[in-house]
Amino acid sequence: TTVEWEAESYDMGGHDTYMHKEISEQPDAVDRVLRGRIDDRFSTVHLGGLNLDAREARTIRRIKILGCGTSYHAGLIGAGLIEELARIPADAEPASEFRYRNPVVDPDTLYIAVSQSGETYDVLAAVQELKRKGARVLGVVNVVGSAIARETDGGVYVHAGPEVCVVSTKCFTNTVTAFALLALHLGRIRDLSVADGKRIIEGLRRLPGQIQEILKQEDEIKKLAKRYADAKSMMFIGRVRGYPVALEASLKLKEISYIHAEAYPASELKHGPLALIEPSLPTVAIIPNDDLLEKNRAALEEIKARSGRILAVAHQEQEKADHTIVVPKNETELDSILMGIPLQIFAYHTALALGRDIDKPRNLAKSVTVE
Ligand code: AGP
Repeated sequence: TTVEWEAESYDMGGHDTYMHKEISEQPDAVDRVLRGRIDDRFSTVHLGGLNLDAREARTIRRIKILGCGTSYHAGLIGAGLIEELARIPADAEPASEFRYRNPVVDPDTLYIAVSQSGETYDVLAAVQELKRKGARVLGVVNVVGSAIARETDGGVYVHAGPEVCVVSTKCFTNTVTAFALLALHLGRIRDLSVADGKRIIEGLRRLPGQIQEILKQEDEIKKLAKRYADAKSMMFIGRVRGYPVALEASLKLKEISYIHAEAYPASELKHGPLALIEPSLPTVAIIPNDDLLEKNRAALEEIKARSGRILAVAHQEQEKADHTIVVPKNETELDSILMGIPLQIFAYHTALALGRDIDKPRNLAKSVTVE
C-alpha cells in the first residue's frame, strides 16, 4: 500500500511551503502528543495503546529500535532516553540493515518500529520478520491505522498530524517526545524516582513554550543560513545526546539544500575527519550545557586552530564559535528535543537561499513503500 497525502487538501495556512508550516506547528504538535497522557498523581504517563502491562515491562532485558532516515535518528534519541530514564539497555538500527542481516531475535528483547508514514517497506518487512520469529514488536507511528500500526502488537501514536513536506520536521520532534513518554513510563515502572518523574513531566510541559521561543529566532537564523549557504560541504558534530541531533540536522540540510554534509561524534574528530577542516568547511556544533560541555569546547578549539568556521547550537554563547544559536535549556535528558529545531529552520533558509524546491526535493518520495 502507498499512502499518498493529497497535498492540495491541506491548507498551507498562509505559509509559503508545507515545511515552513510544519516547522511552525511544532508547539501545538508537541502539546498534542502530551495531551491526556500525563498522570501527576504517580508522576508517570499513561500510554493507552501500549499493550504491555507492568509485569511484562519489568521483564524486558533489552530494547531494539528500528526505523529509517529521520525515524531512525529519532530512534537513536529514543534509545538514549530509555537508557537514561528506565536503565534498560537500548539501541537503534536502520530497519533496512537489520532485516538483511539475519538478526538474532531474542525473546527478552522488546522491538520498537518507528515510522511517520507507517508504510515504509523496510520497516514493515523488519516487523514481519520479527513477528514471524515470535518477537514482541511495538510501533511508534504517526499515521493512525497504517500498515506498521496494524502489524505491531501495540504502541504509541505520535499525533504530529499530517506531514506533507517530503522532509520530516514536526514528526521527528513528536516522535522523540513520544519516546520520552515511553521512557518515563518504563522508568517509573522500574527504578526512576517520583522526584525524577516529576522533573521530567515538568520539563515535558515546558517544551511547547520553549519551541515557540526558538521559532521567534527565525529572522536571525535566516541571516545565518544566508552566510553559510555558499558552503560546498558542512560538518555536524555532537556528543552522546547531541550526536543524533547532528545526524538529523545533517540529513535535513542534505535533503533540501543538496549541500553535502557529514555528521560525526565530536569525540571522533581526531580519529580522521579533522583532516577535512579548513576555512571553506564550516562546522555546526551541538553543545548542550551537560557534563560534556568542556569536552565539546575542546573540540571547538581544535577546529578553530585549523581556521574552521563554527556555528554553535548551545544553551549559551560559545566564545570559540563564530556564531551561536542560543536554545532554551530544559532538563538535560530532554534537551535533544529542542536542539534540532533551529537547525530545521537553518536547513530551510539555506535551501531557500539556494532556490531549491523545498517541499519536493529531487529524487525523494515522502514514503518509500518499495524495496
Ligand atoms: C525524512 O526527512 C526523510 N524524507 C526520510 O528519511 C524518512 O524519514 C524515511 O524515509 C522514513 O520514513 P517514515 O518515517 O515514514 O517511515
